Amino acid sequence: MNELKKCVVLGVTGGIAAYKACELLRLLQKQGMDVYVVMTKNACRFVTPLTFETLSGHPVAVDTFERPATWEVEHIALAKRADLFLIAPATANILAKMACGIADDMLSTTVLATRAPVMVAPAMNTGMWDNPATQENLATLKRRGVHIVAPVSGLLACGDSGAGKLEDVAVIARHAIDVLRGVPQDLAGLRVMVTAGPTREALDPVRYVSNRSSGKMGYAIARAAARRGAQVTLLTGPVALDVPDGVEAVRFTTTQELLDCAQSRVMEQDILIQAAAPADYRAAEVAPQKIKKQKGEDFVLRMIENPDVAATLGRMKHAEQVFVGFAAETNDVLAHAQDKLLRKNLDMIVANDVTKDGAGFDVDTNIVTLITREDSVSLPLMTKDEVADRILTQALSLRS
Ligand code: PMT
Repeated sequence: MNELKKCVVLGVTGGIAAYKACELLRLLQKQGMDVYVVMTKNACRFVTPLTFETLSGHPVAVDTFERPATWEVEHIALAKRADLFLIAPATANILAKMACGIADDMLSTTVLATRAPVMVAPAMNTGMWDNPATQENLATLKRRGVHIVAPVSGLLACGDSGAGKLEDVAVIARHAIDVLRGVPQDLAGLRVMVTAGPTREALDPVRYVSNRSSGKMGYAIARAAARRGAQVTLLTGPVALDVPDGVEAVRFTTTQELLDCAQSRVMEQDILIQAAAPADYRAAEVAPQKIKKQKGEDFVLRMIENPDVAATLGRMKHAEQVFVGFAAETNDVLAHAQDKLLRKNLDMIVANDVTKDGAGFDVDTNIVTLITREDSVSLPLMTKDEVADRILTQALSLRS
């Protein structure tokens, strides 16, 4: 991808995660960004301005009343220079000040003055994060168009465990670049779960029944959702693909395992997209030892039905959720897909005729029809990345 020549003003506030801002600065520079740093006084207790000055190659702004090196009004000059104003880590304090329009130090003054897009990556103690005051301030900022890179759960510096840990700096940098490139962040704040890939149903310790799904379609959806700001969980079967940046992956092998993983997570999702190809049947008995040749006799395998994951989840669905399924068909494509849409209580089904060249299994393109309860849209041959964006846009429109 082309290098972006843009200016990022990086605000650093006083939390233990302040040291991670050094790495974030470096990552942004590697993408061609010119980075200016503004620190709060408390941030200077964790990392010295000299560190950021050395890394950025620019003076670090801390004090509004310091005599400037030039006769520019410093906070206004920085506010104007920014193509993106990114605060990471952002404490509960700066979020509260921003929500109220308070400007009582260099950082809060500069961010109030900027007309550039603003992004915050909060990091704090779980109790502070969960506090209604913080959540209401975030909701206010979000309503005003501030991009929020939500913290993740984990062990916090204070010893507590829970939400409040600064998101991985590579993920923050990627969101920043996406905003600068104009990628819409229309899924920010939403949880999206995607299923991808095949299942394997064991016959004996060395053999299994599977299918030709490569996972490419599901991975493209997970990647696109993350780029558009969603918090993405990818339930993945055994495939040879790298998990997209910023996506949490959970692995399954059998249809029953997929059902277990999905059932325990589905209630907290806003959007569910089921691109996996789970086996409808499994062996009635899995042989404990390798099955031997039958000495000239036919080998008969008895298979029993697996649970239907989509139908089971469909019965759990609540009104605000949007569920999308796929239908891989070889004949009467639209009729079969319509039937699955209703039977599995889906809001949309993506029908692909897997007999067409450039569609379906293990290719980088697809030819699909998006069928909702109201209408259907047939798309031409597209890359799976493009199909993924179309599916997400349609799924989002079904929420409103
Ligand atoms: O992975 P790729 O190589 O990129 O290929 C993409 C794909 C062809 C696998 C994908 O686009 C696709 O069509 N996935 C669905 C495959 C499938 O299982 O189709 P189906 O018509 O059998 O199932 C319909 C829906 O029910 C699907 O959402 C499926 O996830 C779900 N299902 C199926 C069987 C089952 N036991 N439980 C289910 O939940």
